[in-house]
Amino acid sequence: MFYQLTNEQIMIRSMVREFARKVIAVTAAERDRTKEFPADNFKKMGELGLMGMLIPPEYNGEGADTISYVLALSEIAYSCASTAVVMSVHNSIVCESILKFGSEEQKKKYLPQLADAEIIGAFALTEPHAGSDPVAQSTTAVRDGDDFILNGTKCFITSGKNSGLVIVTAKTDETQKHKGISAFIIGKGTPGLIAGEPEDKMGLRASDTTDIILENCRVPASNMLGNEGEGFMIAMSGLDCGRIGIAAQSVGVARAAFDAAVDYAKKREQFGQKISKFQGLRWIIADMATEIEAASQLMFTAAATKDRGENFTLQASMAKLFASEMVNRITAKAVQMHGGYGFIKDYPVERLYRDARVFTIYEGTSEIQRVVISNHILNDRRRS
Ligand code: CAA
Repeated sequence: MFYQLTNEQIMIRSMVREFARKVIAVTAAERDRTKEFPADNFKKMGELGLMGMLIPPEYNGEGADTISYVLALSEIAYSCASTAVVMSVHNSIVCESILKFGSEEQKKKYLPQLADAEIIGAFALTEPHAGSDPVAQSTTAVRDGDDFILNGTKCFITSGKNSGLVIVTAKTDETQKHKGISAFIIGKGTPGLIAGEPEDKMGLRASDTTDIILENCRVPASNMLGNEGEGFMIAMSGLDCGRIGIAAQSVGVARAAFDAAVDYAKKREQFGQKISKFQGLRWIIADMATEIEAASQLMFTAAATKDRGENFTLQASMAKLFASEMVNRITAKAVQMHGGYGFIKDYPVERLYRDARVFTIYEGTSEIQRVVISNHILNDRRRS
C-alpha cells in the first residue's frame, strides 16, 4: 500500500525537519567527538511535543498517530542518530508501555513528566548472558511486605545514566519461564539503582549506553507495571513499537547519507567530468533511492497497522529487518562514493556509517527479526 500523508502529517514533518536541521544537526559531529548528551535539546524537543508524541493530551502528550511519530523520528535521525535513539526508546518502549499497561496512578504520575522531557525514560531488559534470549535473565525481584527487592545486572541500556526513570524486568518466580518475569518502574535516585560508566561505542556516541546494577533495590509493589508475570509480554509488546522506531531511524540516517552522497557526486570531478555523469554511479544512486523508498513503505505499513489498532508484530519486524539492513548498505555505498574523503571525519558519511552499524543489532538482531517473521508465517501466530 502506498501511503498518502495527511496535511497534518506533512506539517509535523516540516516542523520537525526545520527544528532538527537548525538546532540538532549543527552540533551532531561535535557531539560524536565529545560524547556529550544533548540534555538541552531534549528539553526543546519536550516543548515541541516530540517526547510524548504517542501520549494522549490528558497526560500532556501530543496524541499524535504513529505515522506522524515515524516521520518526526526520521527527521531527528537525519540530523543526529544519537538524539534519535534516545527519543525512540523514550517514546516507544517507555511511554507506550506505561500508557498500555500502567495503572491510572502510574500514568498520571509518570506520563506528564516524560512528555515534558522533565525526565528521560530507559528500558532495561538485556543482561550480559541474556541478550537475544531475555527469558534467560537472572535479575530477581523478591517480595518483602509491600515492596520487592531487586538484584542483578542489566547491560546495554540506552540512556542508563541520563534517564530519570527505568523500566526494569526481573524474575518474580524462578520456577516459571517467561511467565515468571515482571516489570517495574524505578525512578532515578532509588537506593540500589546504580548506572554504570557509559560504554565507549563505535557509533551513537552522544547517547549513553550503560549497565544498570540493582543492589538490594527496594521498589514498592505499586511500581510494578502490569500484573505479576507479565513483564516478558510487556517487553515484547514495547519492542514491537520500538522496532518501528528503529526502522524510522534507519530511514532517516539512510536519507542523510544518500543526500550527502548525491551532493558530493554532483560536485566532484574526475576524468574531466562530474562523477554523477558516470553510469556506474548513476545506477548506484538509483538503487539507493529505491531501497530507501522500499524501507519507508514498510515503515509506513507497520505504523499504519498499529494506528488501525491491529496486531503489528509481523509488520514491525519486517520494517526493522529490511530498513536496518538497508541503511548499512546505503551508508557503505555513500562512503564508497566519497572515495578517500568518505573515510575521514570531515565528511558526515563517516559518522553515519558508524551510527548505522548497531541498527541490525539492537532491539532484536536481524536474526531475531527473521525468527519472529518466520514464526508468524509458519505457525500462523498473531497474524492480522
Ligand atoms: N507481543 C506480545 N506478546 C508477545 C510478543 C509480542 N510481540 N511476542 C511474544 N509474546 C508472548 C507470547 O504470546 C508468549 O506468551 P504466552 O505463552 O502467554 O502465549 C510469550 O510471549 C513467549 O513467546 P515466544 O514463545 O514467541 O517467546 P520466545 O521465548 O520464543 O522468544 C523472541 C521470542 C522473539 C526470540 C524474543 O525473545 C525476542 O524478541 N528476543 C530479542 C530481544 C530483544 O529484542 N532485545 C533487545 C533489548 S532492548 C535494546 O536493544 C536496548 C536498548 O535500550 C535500545
